[in-house]
Amino acid sequence: MIYTKILGTGSYVPSKTLTNEDLTSFVDTSDEWIVSRTGIKERHIVTDESTTDLAYFAALKAIDDAQIKKEDIDLLIVATVTPDNAFPGVSNLLQARLELNEIMTFDINAACSGFIYALNIADKMIKSGSYHTALVIGAETLTRLTDWRDRNTCVLFGDAAGAMIISKSTQDKIKDIICGSRGDTDDLLICKNTDIKDPSINAISQQDHIHMKGSEVFKFATRILPKTVNDLLDRNGITLEDLNYIVAHQANERIIDKAARDLSFSMDKMFLNISKYGNTSAASVPLAIDEAIKSNVLKKGDKFITVAFGGGLTWGGALIEL
Ligand code: UT7
Repeated sequence: MIYTKILGTGSYVPSKTLTNEDLTSFVDTSDEWIVSRTGIKERHIVTDESTTDLAYFAALKAIDDAQIKKEDIDLLIVATVTPDNAFPGVSNLLQARLELNEIMTFDINAACSGFIYALNIADKMIKSGSYHTALVIGAETLTRLTDWRDRNTCVLFGDAAGAMIISKSTQDKIKDIICGSRGDTDDLLICKNTDIKDPSINAISQQDHIHMKGSEVFKFATRILPKTVNDLLDRNGITLEDLNYIVAHQANERIIDKAARDLSFSMDKMFLNISKYGNTSAASVPLAIDEAIKSNVLKKGDKFITVAFGGGLTWGGALIEL
């Protein structure tokens, strides 16, 4: 039987920060509203960095943390909704920049659930016996798609990348992963990101931005988050008492708080770093896992569930032992 485990993690955020106070200078909002409704105090945003840049620095840290050689990596998957190009993908560009072997690389798009989708694919590709060591990344520059005039969305997002090295193992550590989607809910959270294509009016080409029906997404998130946790517990014959932590997608502290209450799980064991980064989409989960490990909140031998939801709508969760 082939099992998998985490060998190392890393994360990276751009140096420029945008505080809630900064936002009030160009949009009708307040620090009080943003903190009380979301838990966000500031976010990091790119100036001239690309998604590939953020992914590159997170990957270097994960490779270092895993204490492996770059030649050991035989699979690279990047989850992103903000690739630098339509093609080639961020993963292709990274293969060259990281000087990896000429391995299989690809990007996937499952919005904020993207990292868990990518982890699921890498985990199963290793368990098939065909691959040995995967670099899995969630990287986003969502603020490039943000409409800075729309207070409903612009206060929420930030830029970041998180990376994880997983490998074949004799110990069963990445125990179970589930993913789901519902495309009939596409209008709740969407970014068409299209330009006007009529050549006669091409001169006024304009970019579409993120559109979200926040309260509908909130309802979905507070339902799917506990459901995914319970599904993972049931499938693996364990209970909440067996978990040291839940590391949820950092979209809104109120969503995490409501999920904890509905699960009857202590909020002290729900990892939180949203106040510093905002919602970083596919980067949110690996950034949170990396911070939880590096700050010794998650320790070797700990069991945790990581869970995410996002545009699509999509969702996913993983049961992992460190
Ligand atoms: O990554 C995945 C997906 N995204 C999410 O998980 C987001 C899920 N949704 C949410 O987190 C919340 O719905 C929001 C944070 C987006 C909004 O919070 P809410 O408590 O649902 O507020 P609301 O949309 O019901 O708006 C309440 C009021 C409205 O004013 P009126 O109509 O009551 O006068 C909004 O116009 O708050 C107003 N508002 C703001 N006020 C100040 C909305 N955004 C702002 C703002 N500053 N930034």
